Amino acid sequence: MSAEVALKGRSFINALDLTPEEYEALFILADEIRAHPQDFAGACAGRILATLFYEPSTRTRLSFEAAMLRLGGKVLSVADPQTSSVAKGESLADTVRTVAAYADLIVIRHPKEGAARLAAMYSPVPVINAGDGAREHPTQTLTDLYTIRTLKGRLSHLVVAFCGDLRFGRTVHSLLRALSRYPGMHFFLISPEELRIPEFLREELSAQGAVMEEREQMEEVLPFADVLYMTRVQKERFLDEEEYLRLRDFYVLTPDRLQLLKEDAIIMHPLPRVTEIAYGVDADPRAVYFQQVRFGMYARMALILGILGVV
Ligand code: NCD
Repeated sequence: MSAEVALKGRSFINALDLTPEEYEALFILADEIRAHPQDFAGACAGRILATLFYEPSTRTRLSFEAAMLRLGGKVLSVADPQTSSVAKGESLADTVRTVAAYADLIVIRHPKEGAARLAAMYSPVPVINAGDGAREHPTQTLTDLYTIRTLKGRLSHLVVAFCGDLRFGRTVHSLLRALSRYPGMHFFLISPEELRIPEFLREELSAQGAVMEEREQMEEVLPFADVLYMTRVQKERFLDEEEYLRLRDFYVLTPDRLQLLKEDAIIMHPLPRVTEIAYGVDADPRAVYFQQVRFGMYARMALILGILGVV
């Protein structure tokens, strides 16, 4: 199946909007792009991508912009809604319909859960969710799946340990949903009591038969993990600053603790990192979070090509 047949004209709001076969088609395309970037350098000539970001971002917005520019397309950006008509009280529905008049594809990040879905309902062009509140972040999942597939050689029969803010971390929610569709997966969910995954997600994953074990101590799990997925405590989702400060340093991956980890494990992080991974870990070959950033750009290039139907 080519990515074109599957994806042309479609929005990407939730990680489960794509089937495992559709993800695989994108990974194959991303591999081709990575191997022969020049062959794709003009693929999106004449196309415009708009990024509409209502929440801070460096990586995701620039990743989409870099992806589009490397495909020969052009980019329009609203990085600070305070400088746009949103500050005048314009609704998201109106903003999206306006931007859709200028662009072929809209990428949106918004603090409200469900905002991307709403945008897609009003937009005549496809919409990609670049994060809606604490809910979903499907292109980070695309990035993460592509990273695991490339570096571990498979997307099945893996022990994946998620560590940190599993309550508010949208990248965790999307990735858990997507990974639970592959066979032989075993999840360890490491968090303090206050930051466990939401009950509705636990129920949803259990109903699908996901094998999950919740733990509070990272040390207990490290020897078993093939993938260690570290996350930042999501400061912006806390109502109480003191609670945030109390939980922020709950887990810190240090060079000492790395000794517990398998030789061939990989350490991932959607970034930005705050205190949860010590800088001393970065030089370890198992620390792949900056490679993950690069994989994200190629995966997004494949996604843009698929949705615009230019492959
Ligand atoms: C993540 C996000 O925005 O949810 N960052 C990203 O997109 N790479 C994770 C985070 O902010 O902690």
